[in-house]
Amino acid sequence: MTRKILVTSALPYANGPIHIGHMVEYIQTDIWARFQRLRGNSCYYVCADDAHGTPIMLRAQQEGIEPQELIDQVNKEHREDFAGFNVQFDNYHTTHSEENRILSEAVYLAARDAGHIDTKVIKQAYDPEAEMFLPDRFIKGDCPNCGTSDQYGDNCEACGATYSTTEVKNAYSVVTGATPIEKDSEHHFFKLGNFTDFLAEWLASGAVQKEVVNKMNEWVEDGLADWDISRDAPYWGFKIPDTEDKYFYVWLDAPIGYLASFKNMCDRTGESFDDYWAEGSDAEVYHFIGKDIAYFHTLFWPAQLKAAGYRLPTGVNCHGFLKVNGEKMSKSRGTFIQARVFLNHLPAEQLRYYFAAKLSNSIDDIDLNLEDFQVRSNSELVGKLVNIASRCAGFVNKRFDNTLAAELPDPELYAQFSKASEEIAESYETRQYSRAMRQIMGLADLANQYIDSNKPWVLIKDEATFDQVQGICTQGINMFRALIGYLKPVLPELAQKSEAFLNAGELNWESVQTPLLNHQVTKFKPLMTRIEGTQIEAMLEENNAVLVAMQDKANKPKLSKHLTDDPIKPEISYEDFDKIDLRIARIDKAEAVKGADKLICLTLDVGGEKRQVFAGIKSAYEPEALVGKLTVMVANLAPRKMRFGLSEGMVLAAGPGGSDLFVLHPDDGADAGMRVK
Ligand code: 2FM
Ligand code: ZN
Repeated sequence: MTRKILVTSALPYANGPIHIGHMVEYIQTDIWARFQRLRGNSCYYVCADDAHGTPIMLRAQQEGIEPQELIDQVNKEHREDFAGFNVQFDNYHTTHSEENRILSEAVYLAARDAGHIDTKVIKQAYDPEAEMFLPDRFIKGDCPNCGTSDQYGDNCEACGATYSTTEVKNAYSVVTGATPIEKDSEHHFFKLGNFTDFLAEWLASGAVQKEVVNKMNEWVEDGLADWDISRDAPYWGFKIPDTEDKYFYVWLDAPIGYLASFKNMCDRTGESFDDYWAEGSDAEVYHFIGKDIAYFHTLFWPAQLKAAGYRLPTGVNCHGFLKVNGEKMSKSRGTFIQARVFLNHLPAEQLRYYFAAKLSNSIDDIDLNLEDFQVRSNSELVGKLVNIASRCAGFVNKRFDNTLAAELPDPELYAQFSKASEEIAESYETRQYSRAMRQIMGLADLANQYIDSNKPWVLIKDEATFDQVQGICTQGINMFRALIGYLKPVLPELAQKSEAFLNAGELNWESVQTPLLNHQVTKFKPLMTRIEGTQIEAMLEENNAVLVAMQDKANKPKLSKHLTDDPIKPEISYEDFDKIDLRIARIDKAEAVKGADKLICLTLDVGGEKRQVFAGIKSAYEPEALVGKLTVMVANLAPRKMRFGLSEGMVLAAGPGGSDLFVLHPDDGADAGMRVK
């Protein structure tokens, strides 16, 4: 019976590029999904961009674009990067979608109606200048424990201390540099504690790895705190129903994005959403995630699903982090390698194989050692695997009219290959890819030994042993075919090229049981090339340049709130600008205007010529304080008749208004009547 399976990978944030650390998970999931399809099961693989939250809002602001434009742009880049690594989604969506809004509201309302939502007023850090509440990551200051400066609001990188943002010394907002204040706000909470028994049971169900269960049980035993699922405006996300200015916290709607992406696929293909997500569904659902977000996927997410009446995941599969050259990926060491940069220099297939050769079903970290990557790719894939085909294909192409013999000379040896099928399948199924790669490469060794000991290059010289060569090559090519079938989930491109050479359609998991005999192959073309050290060097060089450019961009002074609230007007020509005559003016007289709260009547001396100008600056200045000061005025503005008299020009002032309004005072040395250029 074929299985109905749905798999997901964690949704990447839509505010930055995919790096090779991300790729561990997408490759891991893609291999599993491809394996299932190869076995004849139905397996959908859906994903989406995680497109909400403060960092995305601020990044868009910094770039001077709308969040929608940012997430569209990043979505396109993410899709291209995944395609470059042959990660094959059945649907790639975004959490900022209509499907997700509808589903998120429905999950929330179901939870609320069942009594699982509370509201409470809490105190939070607030940036008075940006007029927004600040997530912990957006507060920095001196560590309260060791005094190191420039530490994040919740932990110190120098001494490892963790603390609350209110304890940070000399705290400042990363957004504006302002000192955060504390402000009250009403928040919505998901009462996770209501699900304590349910979660304890679900954790014991075998859906999650033991090591993760142990960690999560600690949380459950400590008592599950209410989960804050709301954020105040300004926030980039979905508004909470029945509120004016409260939004769902990004982590509320992110996992619902799994449902939304699948829904979007179902609407497109006619597949049944309920078959996979209704309570009691007989389909299997697996989430592949990194161990850092296990908390969200094994506590909050099952509770959300339960509250809304959906089925639960069959499994949540956690993996470890990627290290590069034995250390945590680091921007300063240049090992924070962008997916795109990798693809610009190196083949995706080899990285898929390398990750597969390292991955198991544990949450241990895996290491990408770049030198080892080069050596293993060349020796195992080119030297060992592809070599089997290239050693045999030449003879078949040139001497036997592309035709394979009618029988295998060593059927017992071939049987070792076909009998390994279930053991290898078991390794894939349980995500023990490193074991699968060892099993397959062990067989590749047997194939090479067979060719080595039979020496077709010697036998071909003698007419009498000519036929034997055809048999040896038929044996070799069939063993190669078996290996490629087993590696097809990992190496889809190599498999495709090999299928073209073998000329017998697409390989599936069963193909190995029937060897190709009396069959015509096509002309052999090189299937894979060696990786050179210079490619890796060039990749690292480009990556460093990209990292420096990204850093420069991040360090760029933040766009002032004034520019975002009050954008720059459309461009004008130099000729337009040149029409404006700006002059230094001395304020001779300044008087309040009866009946006009905001106006001051200025008498300006523009170098001998007097002008009367009404300026709306009373909220910021006492008239007397202005007398004798220099300012800048537009001297050739057409006079305007106002209720209180004629205004003959305009003084330049800056600021949002109120007491924050500044008449420009030119430097010492300026003189009334001077032109301002
Ligand atoms: O940690 C992250 O990168 C999140 N964007 C993952 C979200 S996974 C799911 F819940 F949406
Ligand atoms: Zn410290």
